[in-house]
Order: sequence, then C-alpha cells, then structure tokens
Amino acid sequence: MSEEEAKNEIASLSKQINHHNQRYYQDSVSEISDYDFDQLLERLIQIESDFPGLKKSDSPSQRVGGAITKNFETVVHKYPMLSLANTYSAEDLRDFDGRVCKGLEDQSYAYFCELKFDGVAISLTYDNGQLTRAVTRGDGTKGDNITANAKTIRSIPLSLNDKDCPESFEVRGEVYMPDAVFEDLNKQKIADGEEPLANPRNTASGTLKMQDSSVVASRKLDCYLYSLMTNQNLVTTHSDAIAALERWGFNVSPTYQKCKNIDEVLSYIEEWEEKRKELSVETDGIVIKVDSLKQQNDLGFTAKSPRWAIAYKYKAESAATRLNGVTYQVGRTGAVTPVAELEPVLLAGTTVKRASLHNANEIERLGVRIGDLVQVEKGGEIIPKITGVEIESRPADSLAFQYIDKCPECETTLVRF
Ligand code: IVH
Repeated sequence: MSEEEAKNEIASLSKQINHHNQRYYQDSVSEISDYDFDQLLERLIQIESDFPGLKKSDSPSQRVGGAITKNFETVVHKYPMLSLANTYSAEDLRDFDGRVCKGLEDQSYAYFCELKFDGVAISLTYDNGQLTRAVTRGDGTKGDNITANAKTIRSIPLSLNDKDCPESFEVRGEVYMPDAVFEDLNKQKIADGEEPLANPRNTASGTLKMQDSSVVASRKLDCYLYSLMTNQNLVTTHSDAIAALERWGFNVSPTYQKCKNIDEVLSYIEEWEEKRKELSVETDGIVIKVDSLKQQNDLGFTAKSPRWAIAYKYKAESAATRLNGVTYQVGRTGAVTPVAELEPVLLAGTTVKRASLHNANEIERLGVRIGDLVQVEKGGEIIPKITGVEIESRPADSLAFQYIDKCPECETTLVRF
C-alpha cells in the first residue's frame, strides 16, 4: 500500500466510523453490526500502525486507547468548577425560589430542570472544532488532565463539524458507568475471586484516573454534557446552550425540561422520582437552573455555589435484607460501636454489606435480633443505617440480642452512657 492509498483509506475508514458512532450515540440507530464496526476500527488501527505519520489526533482509533499516562498533569480551570447547594424538600425549594425572585427584583424568570447524574464531573475544551483537553473537577480550582482516557469515551466527540460552534469553548458534564456495564464488571470480578466494586460512581472515578487508556476503553464509560462555557455571546439562555450542544453532536440526556415556575419544577421532581430508576445511569436528584444567562449573571455566586441553581436530592432509598451478625468497632477514644453485618443488598447503586447500629441503646430501641429481616436506608454520603425490623418474618428459633459487656480489644468492662 502506498502512502497515498493509506491516506485515502484512513480518511474513508474514519468517515465511516464517525458516521456510525454519530448514528449510534446521537440517534440510537445501529446501521451495522458490532462485529462489522470492530472490523472497520481494526483495519484503521492496522493502517495507522503501518503509517504512524498519518495518525491524526482526532482519529476514531483513539477510542481504543493505548496511551499510558504515568503522572496526570495538573490543570487550573479557566472557570472554577463549583458545586451546588442541596435541598431535600418542597419547602426548601420554595425558599430558593423566593430568593431568586427577590434577587431578580420581581422580573419574570423561568427554570431549566435536569437530572442530577451521579458520576464524575469533567470539563472538555474544544479549539477549532477539535477536542484538545479533558480535565477532572479535582478540587474545583484545578484538576487532572485525563485527555487520553476521555478520548476512549465514544460519545465524546473528538472533532466537531458544525460551522456555528465557537472557535474555542468548554463543555462540562458527567462521566458515568452505565449500570449494566457496572453489573457485568462486578460479575467478572466475583468470577475471578476478586472483591466486587462498591458502586458505579466510584468505579467511573477510578477508571478515569487509570494510567492505561486501553483499560479505560474496555470499561465502556459514557458521558452526559450539561454546561456550555464560552465568553462569546452565542446564546442567551441555558435552553439555547443545551440545544446548541445537541446540534454540535454532544450527548445530552433527553430528560431535561424547561419550567415556567416552581410548581412546574415540583411536578418535574415528582415525575422523575420513579422514572429515573429506569435510566441506565444512577441519578440522585435533580438540578434546577435559572434559564436566562443574564439573570444567572445578575444572581451570581456565593463562595461555594451559584445563587441561580440548586440541587434537589431525592429521599434515601431503603431495602430489606438479613442481619447476619454484629461486630464491634473500638474507636480511638475507646468508644465501642456495633456494626451490622448484612446479607449484601443493592441499595441506590451500591452493594451494602454493613450498616451502623450506633450503640447498645439503638439496638434495644430497634428490638433487632441476629437473623432478622431488617430495613436498611442510605442517603448520599451517609453510612447506611438500619431503620426497622420485620418482626413478622422473624425465625421461630431466634434469640434475644446479647450485647457484649467487655471491650473486644482490652477486655475492660464496658460502661453504657
Ligand atoms: S450543573 C455550578 N448539572 O453535581 C455547578 N451539575 O453539586 C453547575 N451534576 O459538580 C453544575 N448532574 O458533578 C450540573 N445536570 C447537572 C448535573 C450536575 C450532576 C454534578 C456535577 C457538579 C455537582 C454539583
């Protein structure tokens, strides 16, 4: 094959692969089988390895990884990556709405609601239509340059061919591991005799920081984008920004909704409380944003978060499981904490095996016995806790719970407070 022929075939293969990627990720249509797709990719990789000088930085072969990063370069974010204040009730949300209304001095305003994806925040920079950098959130001010790893995520465009996108801009979103991918990975871990991974979010986060991008590629991460950052006055509302991202080929979750007022926001919250569980991505709430960018700017930020946006967190989920035993942890101060050893149960995307029982009084209050079916609850970062006991299904031979009376480490007689 001559260099000229290689160049032509690389161009043709790249075009076909990009076309199929676009059809698959933007339109959810597969025009060819996975096998045929892999054949195209393999052929491209082969030619590029024969003619390394012809490999482009936006070649779809980057999707399979191969680059090894020893130390991720630290990058300072052009605009800090802030977090959102949380709310847990309709009342809190109405208070937020009151503050927005007051801050905007009674102008009319609209909200834009999105699901809150439970993944890892990422920032992507595009220059002249090419993905030039992908950076993790880090501490919000600076993060890690993980470009080679991000390039393996097939729904992240490596290049854009839309004419109306700015010369240079940043998009932000959430990298996540789809639930089905996480479950398969854990099945494999268990089959290999390894410890299963705790939850999709931590797994996505660990995967993004792996040194070998070909392992990252095999982990099949995905990404939803939800913010456009540019100093050009291209759009005047967040809805228009989202529409632009969709037009340019970014993967935007179709679950958003523009809401005229806080009552519509509350209906959206209600609508998604159950429906969100059918999605392939873990979500833990919704994000409410003031739609007008001018009004966002007028409302501004506190030290930690914007005044124009807020997160609403859904109530903790609960599940029933068996209490297999109780172990005791001795803290630095000598305090003894009983820990429930549970039959592993999937709860809000995490396999829960242990829960806090706080102290002897809490065990008495719950009236729990070993072997009981118990209700476990988990919310956000909080350690799962036992909230109830199903007395009706208690085994007939169950014995009253015996709390230890000596410290399991030093045998000292325990004192109850
Ligand atoms: S917008 C100023 N939209 O939640 C912050 N964030 O607590 C603007 N997140 O760090 C963020 N889904 O990682 C936004 N639809 C969504 C989101 C979302 C998940 C995460 C993001 C952010 C954290 C904020």
